[in-house]
Amino acid sequence: MIKNLTVDDQKRAAAEAALEYVKPGMRLGLGTGSTAEHFVRALAPRAAKLKLTTVATSERTAALARELGLTVSDLNDVRRLDLTVDGADEIGPGLVLTKGGGGALLREKIVAAASDRMIVIADEAKVVDMLGRFPLPVEIVRFAWHVTVERIADAAARSGCSQNLMRLRGGEAHPFTTDSGNYIADCAAETIPDPERLAHLLEGIPGVVGHGLFISLASLALVGTPGGVTVLDLPHH
Ligand code: 5RP
Repeated sequence: MIKNLTVDDQKRAAAEAALEYVKPGMRLGLGTGSTAEHFVRALAPRAAKLKLTTVATSERTAALARELGLTVSDLNDVRRLDLTVDGADEIGPGLVLTKGGGGALLREKIVAAASDRMIVIADEAKVVDMLGRFPLPVEIVRFAWHVTVERIADAAARSGCSQNLMRLRGGEAHPFTTDSGNYIADCAAETIPDPERLAHLLEGIPGVVGHGLFISLASLALVGTPGGVTVLDLPHH
């Protein structure tokens, strides 16, 4: 059958394909963004029967999940999760991701890191040969943010990115504030040839709370294409 799925249909198809990986009794992390929203909407009618415990990666997702009748637990109480299903801004080789377009990168990473498995759901435009076209979100504390932003630009240059244009999300007059009360600096790197090196350098900057490079966290990606869903797997999984 010939399909011609729109971008939103691709997101929905990927989200629905992820339902297959949700098993009864699972402790499940719910991602943030429009694709993750499709997942929460598809999951909600099945959740009670599956006896799931869910944890959200943002206030926005928690509100949606509750509105749809799900009980959202605190990760402090649940501690470990079996699976997290979340979207991505870019999916690079080895399932290295850029995340944080929706501003939830810190909680998304905490939840993904507490999960035995992370499955990414996305439309095909997210799959890239090299990360960097999508500006890399970096969550930073407000104190001396100008200083932190300069150091992020320096880290991008030192790790070989072809560009390091920085922007405070929301602008200086009305900066975007994360669920944890921080700012986000977006780094337009254009290319990120060495994500591990950049991640390492960013983690050494005192004002950086977290960054949107997700390395060794996702083990499977379900990608919606105009013709249906494609699975990207890691060789050792
Ligand atoms: C939010 C994210 C999202 O997963 C990412 O922005 C993708 O969003 P969408 O599913 O709307 O394309 O990282 O912080």
